[in-house]
Amino acid sequence: MQAKPPSPAPGEPAGWRIEPAGESDIDEIAELAASEIPQAWSRRGFADQLTGDAGWSWCAHPMFTGSRSPLLAYCVSRKVLNELEILSLAVVTGARRRGIARSLVDRVLSEASTSGVDVVHLEVRASNHAAQALYRDRSFEVVGVRPRYYSNGEDALLMRCGIADS
Ligand SMILES: CC(C)(COP(=O)(O)OP(=O)(O)OC[C@H]1O[C@@H](n2cnc3c(N)ncnc32)[C@H](O)[C@@H]1OP(=O)(O)O)[C@@H](O)C(=O)NCCC(=O)NCCS
Repeated sequence: MQAKPPSPAPGEPAGWRIEPAGESDIDEIAELAASEIPQAWSRRGFADQLTGDAGWSWCAHPMFTGSRSPLLAYCVSRKVLNELEILSLAVVTGARRRGIARSLVDRVLSEASTSGVDVVHLEVRASNHAAQALYRDRSFEVVGVRPRYYSNGEDALLMRCGIADS
């Protein structure tokens, strides 16, 4: 018998559920990243973050299906002392503009706020206006630029959100 999916956390939309990501999610996350992000991390890169006791990554699956249902989205982040870095985030193309990424970012910010994190930061391609709009929507600001950071010569924008601001 299939296990009953967990209920959404307070404030979380009902169409999908967000759960902590771990080792069993590595393959699916790496596949989704490869299909949605230019020059995405390799499986090894995700395995480094999702193996063991990381605890700072989440997956979104459709609400009314079992835990092995197709992955809709993920967010992988890393906590170092009082800072959290969002390392990779993607939503499958067919499930975009439904608020899934917003709810993943909100989960990150909510967990950060109860875990001694003062600031959440990330790097985003200068051309990635969708992601920049998402982060601005969640109170992130551009605080710097890494010129020609990406292998195609594109700049990275540094964005940050103070936890007291979110
Ligand atoms: C960027 C991305 C994660 C957004 O995911 P999403 O689930 O579609 O985003 P949401 O539906 O939660 O959108 C939340 C807000 O972000 C902004 N936003 C998201 N996509 C946008 C787009 N294509 N154009 C403009 N604004 C956008 C909007 O403000 C949106 O709110 P609204 O729909 O009420 O206007 C998704 O497009 C994606 O996976 N892109 C490829 C991978 C990527 O770029 N990852 C980020 C690397 S830093």
